[in-house]
Amino acid sequence: MTPRLITASRVRTLLLLAGVLLLATSCGWSLWDSPMTTVRPRSDFGRVIDDLFMLISWTTLVIFIAVEVALVYCCWRFRERPGAPMPKQVHGHTVLEVGWTVAFAVVLLIIVIPTIRVIFKTQEAPAATALRVDVAGKQWWWEFKYPSLGIATANELHLPVGETVAFNLHAPDVIHSFWIPQLGGKRDVVPHRVNRIVLTPDAPGEYPGQCAEFCGTSHANMRFRVIVQEKSAWETWVKAQQAPPVEPTDPLAQQGKQVFSSSACVGCHTIKGVSAGQIGPDLTHFGSRKIFAGGIMAVTAENVAKWVEKPEHMKPGSRMPDLGMSGEQGKALAAYLLSLK
Ligand code: CUA
Repeated sequence: MTPRLITASRVRTLLLLAGVLLLATSCGWSLWDSPMTTVRPRSDFGRVIDDLFMLISWTTLVIFIAVEVALVYCCWRFRERPGAPMPKQVHGHTVLEVGWTVAFAVVLLIIVIPTIRVIFKTQEAPAATALRVDVAGKQWWWEFKYPSLGIATANELHLPVGETVAFNLHAPDVIHSFWIPQLGGKRDVVPHRVNRIVLTPDAPGEYPGQCAEFCGTSHANMRFRVIVQEKSAWETWVKAQQAPPVEPTDPLAQQGKQVFSSSACVGCHTIKGVSAGQIGPDLTHFGSRKIFAGGIMAVTAENVAKWVEKPEHMKPGSRMPDLGMSGEQGKALAAYLLSLK
């Protein structure tokens, strides 16, 4: 009797394999295509890490295939069969023992030498001409200061393409981690010390960033965005940020300025010429940003009004207190803040 070629268990196995393949390829695709991808580097820093990752991946893939082929071959060749003789038993084969000791030492060298080189490369001191950005990780938002330009912003970072930037990372409260997956990283942001990342972005675009170290209630809401621009567009942005804030002309915004100046807002926020608070984000050019509240909200009049009324509802654990603003005050404040282009 000939065995049946198509059996229920074979169909099940094939379906399972097809499912695994489908999942593996879709995971692979989303890894490549996601805005948080680490395998599509857009800076020199990201590229050296990616090259190392690929080297290690290919090396281990070759070893994996060689080991699996040998394993499957041995299982098949020396399988138990009726009347088959016992395979030859080998103990203490000097050539084999020396061979695999040397082979694995070579494999480790292939991995270790480039790894050490990348560690040193990614710790290099910046050139004096590098653009310095002081990054402060705070519960739960990011402050970016450009000391040479006199600019302070929050959750949104603008960089010129092709120019080296040196991030000085520090944390006034707890440990955070600065991570822009497409530009490379991540690096811990630790109280009482300054860590550094030096990189040169090589393609214009918007790259999301995220705190990558659990830092409390709204850790997941501690995001930011890096906007890499052509030099001329970046210089336009710099000029606009350096300019004093515009005076509101719209009556609602004027009313909002009154609300801001006469409330506790001034104790925490800076708006140049209006207030000098240092605890919360600098709002001098708030209206020029696309995101706020740790990068989780789009800057719209509706969102800002909701935020000032009930910050805790939008970002759990928010350090910004509920000041008991009325809906009217919230709308006026939103109009004012959005007018600060
Ligand atoms: Cu900051 Cu997690």
